[in-house]
Amino acid sequence: MKKEQVANCQFSVWYPLFKKHTIKSLILPLPQNVIDYLLDDGTLVVSGGTEHTQHSRNNNSDSEEEADVQWSDDETTTVVTAPEFPEFNLKVQEAINALGGRVFPKLNWSAPQDANWIALNSSLQCQSLSDIFLLFKSSDFITHDLTQPFRQCSDDSLDPIINYELVLRKWCELIPGGEFRCFVKENKLIGISQRDYTQHYQHISKQETSISFSIQQFFWEHIQHKFLNEDFVFDVYRDSTGHVWLIDFNPFGEVTDSLLFTWEELTSETSLTSSHTEECTALQDGPAFQYTTSDVTVQPSPCLSYRIPRDFLDLSTGEDAYKLIDFLKLKKGQQEEEESSEDEAEPPVPSV
Ligand SMILES: Nc1ncnc2c1ncn2[C@@H]1O[C@H](COP(=O)(O)OP(=O)(O)O)[C@@H](O)[C@H]1O
Ligand SMILES: [Mg+2]
Repeated sequence: MKKEQVANCQFSVWYPLFKKHTIKSLILPLPQNVIDYLLDDGTLVVSGGTEHTQHSRNNNSDSEEEADVQWSDDETTTVVTAPEFPEFNLKVQEAINALGGRVFPKLNWSAPQDANWIALNSSLQCQSLSDIFLLFKSSDFITHDLTQPFRQCSDDSLDPIINYELVLRKWCELIPGGEFRCFVKENKLIGISQRDYTQHYQHISKQETSISFSIQQFFWEHIQHKFLNEDFVFDVYRDSTGHVWLIDFNPFGEVTDSLLFTWEELTSETSLTSSHTEECTALQDGPAFQYTTSDVTVQPSPCLSYRIPRDFLDLSTGEDAYKLIDFLKLKKGQQEEEESSEDEAEPPVPSV
């Protein structure tokens, strides 16, 4: 995987070429101070222009502001206010409104899928810049885009210059069973995998041939030889009418999840195998098609490891007051125990 191939998978590179076949989206350049804010571990407070934040400050100037700390009158409470980006906020809000009020946010390559647990609605659906900031600041995938997008590239050339962008896509209720990932090597579609491999979807095994065929047709008509790389991965959504939509392009390499294939088999010269070998004869020369069969029991969601334990979340948000009280009692008990064991362990002071 070369740096240039990764650079070609940026949203703003492919979107103008495939606009007609994908979800309506808007791209906004990310100002440097917003990038700095996203990368700053210290600022946990999220702002971004909800009504609350606009009324809470006396903003006479339109300059972008830094986070600051205000002391209240009695000097006992510290109020940390999040930085505000009034101009950027306005642009984002206009874009969100133009896309129907609810959007799916991404950076140049990635969406903050590892952070959806932190959002109040446990989803990536956003209605304001503060919703977006909360997800972005909690996501390792977003940090990867910002800090090491070329990490697994094999060439030593200088990193291409990246202009960071906020991608806002119109929110669509996508049914996970309709999502597929397609692997293309030397401009040939070699494999299709069910994207949500944690579940068995009956309709996929029943309609294997027609799903595979409609994706191949979409590839021949709209994708093949039109993308800038000859090796790449693209994601599609097949809706209930059978229409295929483009969702995303990804680099052909380890940074992209190989789902029900392995990168070893995808990059080797031997041909891939399908979930059902009998079907293979029917689809000779076509791509291998992998989906989760009914014998596989339900698997954990791949983003689960990014979550913190539910108890931690409840404690930190004060969601569950009884849990907090129990936790404090436990801590106090532990402390008392430690203190008394320290007392016991102390050697008696010898009297002189
Ligand atoms: N416009 C959208 N509205 C709602 N959900 C979306 C939208 N676009 C993508 N998704 C969901 O988010 C998932 C990840 O989107 P994707 O653009 O492929 O991000 P990434 O490149 O970070 O994996 C998709 O599998 C799909 O389920
Ligand atoms: Mg992607």
